Amino acid sequence: MTFTSASDIDADRLHDTEVIGDEAVAVAHPNIALVKYWGKRDESLFLPVTGSLSMTLDIYPTTTTVRLIDGPADVVMLNGSTAAPEAHSRVERFLDLVRTRAGRTEHAMVVSTNTGPTGAGLASSASGFAALATAAAAAYQLDADPRALSRLARRGSGSASRSIFGGFVVWHAGAGDGPAGDHTSYAEPIGGDALDPALVVAVVDNASKAVSSREAMRRTCATSPFYRPWADSSAIDLVEMRKAIARQDLPAVGEIAERNALGMHASMLAARPAIRYLSPQSIAVLDGVLALRADGVAAYATIDAGPNVTVLCARADAQRVAAALRAVGDFVDPRTAHLGPGAALITGADR
Ligand code: DP6
Repeated sequence: MTFTSASDIDADRLHDTEVIGDEAVAVAHPNIALVKYWGKRDESLFLPVTGSLSMTLDIYPTTTTVRLIDGPADVVMLNGSTAAPEAHSRVERFLDLVRTRAGRTEHAMVVSTNTGPTGAGLASSASGFAALATAAAAAYQLDADPRALSRLARRGSGSASRSIFGGFVVWHAGAGDGPAGDHTSYAEPIGGDALDPALVVAVVDNASKAVSSREAMRRTCATSPFYRPWADSSAIDLVEMRKAIARQDLPAVGEIAERNALGMHASMLAARPAIRYLSPQSIAVLDGVLALRADGVAAYATIDAGPNVTVLCARADAQRVAAALRAVGDFVDPRTAHLGPGAALITGADR
């Protein structure tokens, strides 16, 4: 396979590229983990150290088209521009995996549009690789059921395995290494949708983060003396979280989610050198959440690898929570999300 850089290809000529096969379009939504994935036991297979549990959102969808082309290399367009080299390579490596599994060799044109902040710690890679896995599997006619798609999406970005499904989703750490780990590390929906909470996403900063989550989790695992204790407590959080969702106990779900996320950030702060995603604005929002609780509102915070804070609350309290967060400062731009759907093929080859 020739690895010509996408930037070598004149974007204006894309329309002239001969389409030689199928085209598929898929949409996927981001997910926010209530019990976090932080750390890999196998980097190349994306096998996590711990299981995790998330809520797929109904906002910020990513729409991705994969079209097979008769060209010398893959062409990757993200949000209307040619992908930067690193993003291009990630997509190319992912397509290589799909091609190998499908026994195909054609290159593809990938056009992906993300409606949420990209690379700002709001799960854009989760919706992105879930949509790409779904569209690429269809375009290359790879026979993959949802579990296989979740294992495939995992290879693009671990958290993407969960965005294949809607609602509350668990991603199993899986057992063992190599092929055994690969087969047993998949996501699946767990029901519990009756809880139907709101997530108020307090966007305090749209900028891409300075340290990628991939590098940050690598460094935390390798150097933080707090990493192992966090991973051990996270395994307990996962068990308790599943029970709390099953009994529709929102305060318990919130408490577990908040302690799990703050513990993850504590483990990063102890990395060498330290990783600090929390900004003064994040802390101000965390204070706002504490004030809401002091006022009797069941609101709980979770934070991914970035400064933005997501607040879990009852659907009926979402407006009050959003108003309280807006009052924290002009820098907060809240968006309210609810449980959203899994990845779906909009148009594409028969599967
Ligand atoms: C903090 O899935 O982006 O959002 O597998 O290296 O691509 P890679 O990492 P990624 O990490 C997400 C980390 C997190 C927590 C979570 O979503 O569980």
